[in-house]
Amino acid sequence: MTSFARRLRTLAVAFALGLGAAIFAAPAITSTALAQGAPASPAAAQEELLFRYLQTQPQGRHGELVGRVSIPDPKAATLIQPHGREFQEAWRSTMKWVGAVAILGMLAVITLFYLVRGRIRIAAGPSGRYIQRFDGVERFAHWLTASTFIVLAITGLNISFGRHVLLPLIGPEAFTAWSEWAKVAHNFLGFPFTLGVVLILLLWVHRNLPDSTDLEWLAKGGGLVGHAHPPAKKFNAGQKIVFWTTVLGGAAIAVTGFIKMFPFQFIATDVYGMQLATQIHGIVGFVMIALILAHIYIGTLGMEGAFSAMGSGKVDLNWAKEHHSLWVDEVMNPTRKASLPAGAKGAGAD
Ligand code: HEM
Repeated sequence: MTSFARRLRTLAVAFALGLGAAIFAAPAITSTALAQGAPASPAAAQEELLFRYLQTQPQGRHGELVGRVSIPDPKAATLIQPHGREFQEAWRSTMKWVGAVAILGMLAVITLFYLVRGRIRIAAGPSGRYIQRFDGVERFAHWLTASTFIVLAITGLNISFGRHVLLPLIGPEAFTAWSEWAKVAHNFLGFPFTLGVVLILLLWVHRNLPDSTDLEWLAKGGGLVGHAHPPAKKFNAGQKIVFWTTVLGGAAIAVTGFIKMFPFQFIATDVYGMQLATQIHGIVGFVMIALILAHIYIGTLGMEGAFSAMGSGKVDLNWAKEHHSLWVDEVMNPTRKASLPAGAKGAGAD
């Protein structure tokens, strides 16, 4: 080997050793630099400069740190959205606790009420005579809303709690298959549910405006607490609460549901709006489920004679006199209605 070739080989070995040492040393240098807070590279230094500059600039409507983009979607310019952290925390934990306490709490109250009060019987016993309470259109509107709500509630609860409650019980395969169907059902049943709520509003709003009979009904515990039968028109104060919760809660849940189904399309055009819609949808959903559990109990097991109002559409006359005396007066004596003195009690009012 010539001396030139020997020198060339020595240089190559030195170069290879140098390269190897550089590769091994690089991460150490970088992490030391990062640990000291220094930018890792000129590009990172520039980014940090830009970040500090943006912090001095006016922020987004909800305190977001906003950069600039050249594409038509301004949402893409959001770099940091502080509300997002609160939202995640609220969504992952607080909301679920609120929902679980509301629903399980209501189930506990219903069970306790049943144990203490038992089934509310028709005090005078069934008369065997019937009076028409709801016609076919009213019952259609009710069962359209009710059936879709029940499926929406179950599939919605699956989205919130399924992973914690159902997955460990039925395993990942069955849970995935069920959840896929549940999600499709939850998306599509929002439409007929909304229709049901609109029908209920149109059919019953004139009978659900608050009036003085509601105060008396509430003051006497609505016949649920104690055994009095305070006078009531077609709907008593408790039913008016169910009505307005269905209509206003249903509207809120429908609007926020559609916002979630078509993200960034309508009212909520930014991330903050989507988060708000998600929170309202969840909270109103939990509250409605809790209240409707009580409604279902009173409409079935809790009160003798109530279910047939939404079954056949007819109710026993004695049931009607005990729970809706002013309405019975109105139906049986339509001409007397106008001449009934103010504050007078109707048939079977007590
Ligand atoms: C199995 C489920 C349900 C049953 C057995 C049931 C039963 C009943 C009954 C018997 C009535 C008539 C009460 C009367 O004659 O005074 C009624 C009325 C009503 N229901 Fe339901 N219901 C159910 C689900 C729902 C759901 C899910 C909603 C709404 C999301 C709802 C909303 C209403 C409203 C607004 C009224 C009129 C106000 C009232 O009477 O409380 N129902 N229901």
